[in-house]
Amino acid sequence: MRAEQRRRRALGRALAAPGNRTSADVRDWWREAVCYQVYLRSFADGNGDGVGDLTGLYQRLPYLAGLGVDALWINPWFPSPMVDGGYDVSDYRAIDPAFGTLSDALAMIEEIHALGLRILIDIVPNHTSSQHPWFHEALAGGPDCVERDRYIFRPGTGPKGDAPPNNWRSVFGGSAWTRIVEPDGRAGSWYLHLFAPEQPDLNWDSCLVRREFESILRFWFDLGVDGIRIDVAHAMIKAPGLPDLGPSDIELIASAAHPGHPHWDREGVHEIFRGWRAVADSYPEPRVFVAEACVGASERLARYVRPGELHTAFNFDYLTAPWRADTLRIAIDSSLSAMAAVGAPAIWALSNHDVLRHLTRYGRPQSDGPVHTLANHSPDGPVDLALGTRRAQTAALLMLALPGCAYLYQGEELGLWEVEDLPDETLQDPTWERSGHTDRGRDGCRLPMPWSGDAPPFGFSPDHAQKVPWLPQPPQWKQLTVQAQTGDEQSMLELYRRALRIRRVHPALGDGSLAWDTTAVPDVLSFTRPPGFQCVVNLGQGAARLPDHREVLLSSVPLEDGLLPGDSAVWLAR
Ligand code: NOJ
Repeated sequence: MRAEQRRRRALGRALAAPGNRTSADVRDWWREAVCYQVYLRSFADGNGDGVGDLTGLYQRLPYLAGLGVDALWINPWFPSPMVDGGYDVSDYRAIDPAFGTLSDALAMIEEIHALGLRILIDIVPNHTSSQHPWFHEALAGGPDCVERDRYIFRPGTGPKGDAPPNNWRSVFGGSAWTRIVEPDGRAGSWYLHLFAPEQPDLNWDSCLVRREFESILRFWFDLGVDGIRIDVAHAMIKAPGLPDLGPSDIELIASAAHPGHPHWDREGVHEIFRGWRAVADSYPEPRVFVAEACVGASERLARYVRPGELHTAFNFDYLTAPWRADTLRIAIDSSLSAMAAVGAPAIWALSNHDVLRHLTRYGRPQSDGPVHTLANHSPDGPVDLALGTRRAQTAALLMLALPGCAYLYQGEELGLWEVEDLPDETLQDPTWERSGHTDRGRDGCRLPMPWSGDAPPFGFSPDHAQKVPWLPQPPQWKQLTVQAQTGDEQSMLELYRRALRIRRVHPALGDGSLAWDTTAVPDVLSFTRPPGFQCVVNLGQGAARLPDHREVLLSSVPLEDGLLPGDSAVWLAR
């Protein structure tokens, strides 16, 4: 074990060698990091129970360091009944036994740092699990107990109080209210849950809730965590009186693009985040935040990352933009200008654990408007996986060349696609049940990673595993394992490795600015970044001419007679 640890540390030092710009040494690392999202349940299973865990992740850390990313974002790892994949937390200061122990997490943090990487964890402040001790106390204490003030309990409406307090909807389908049974057995009041009934919303008007979360932040920051992703950061404050949604608000339950919405993007969230920023800044090496805030316009998003508030926020306009030059450029420009106005970096991502994998999205006919990606998605049209793969390669080069940070979702570097034909009985996302089996939910992007071998579980679980993986992998992933792609210069994995290697050393990449090449023809996105870098992306069908350049640094497919084929991208030195 000691020899193994020494080997890993040496790898960390090698990555940090002069000439290798590593974010680990840079104070503002979060302005330009490439962050890899680890969906822990599906990354690597160390103990053979069919579920990914900390032991499995620990063993695979050299893979991530070697891939060339700067930081890891780990989805919730706390004790949880797993009704919503861990976003239903029952204890914010421990690790779910299925994943490991707190001491495993400490060893992990230490090892991540030894490898020159950073670690972000995922805090869920809008709601707890219904198995959290606070919710038990609130139920047990009866109608007037102070413990109920930590959540949002209200009497029902209608003559018998048997209708919900208002017309709010759960994002997973159905009413956002559930009625409780009081300790004396009578039907009682209702509690709010914007997500599943097992995820009661906290009352952020309560000082106790506020103090508790600042203490949770400090708990993890004190243990060495470098940053925190904030789940549904735009949902924590509700309008006084909890007014009904208007007709247009109901339409927009998942996108929140409506000013004055009674529970999305309310002004009051900003005061909370100013307090959180003060906590992060109180550390000698400041800790950082990335907000998941689905708030429609870039200008609204920018308000979360104003000076004194959060550091960064995901840009969902880019993620939902169809594969078209005009819409992508609008999404890029609007994010860059909105973020620049408040001095924050832009954050780009193509996929995550909530959306249809981008390879599948791009393999379908492209629409004019945003593509269906969120929980309420349904497939539109057949998928051309070869086309999706080619576009995903192209998209990787575009994203990694843009100014700011990029988030990779595990498996995109392997070219994994959305598995849309999982057997019904394997589906676990609450959306499936809550929608009355009309929406298959998000399991299709959450399958266990294929590492090696010719058949499932593709090295996800050890050879002696007692159980099969928690979701079944398609046999066709045989060609997509890390082992199968390593050394194959045409593979998605080697493309990501090369791109990340170049991004790490090239002074033009990461933080900074871009200038569009106005001579580019429609369907071609072309921009320069000082010093001496140009990215050209051809989203059209025919081949495109390249601008003058000194050298081709990298292309997503081989050039054809010096021309850039359709659906491909190239990085040039000028
Ligand atoms: C956003 C998370 O990414 C998603 O997975 C979860 O279901 C909801 N927030 C509720 O916590």
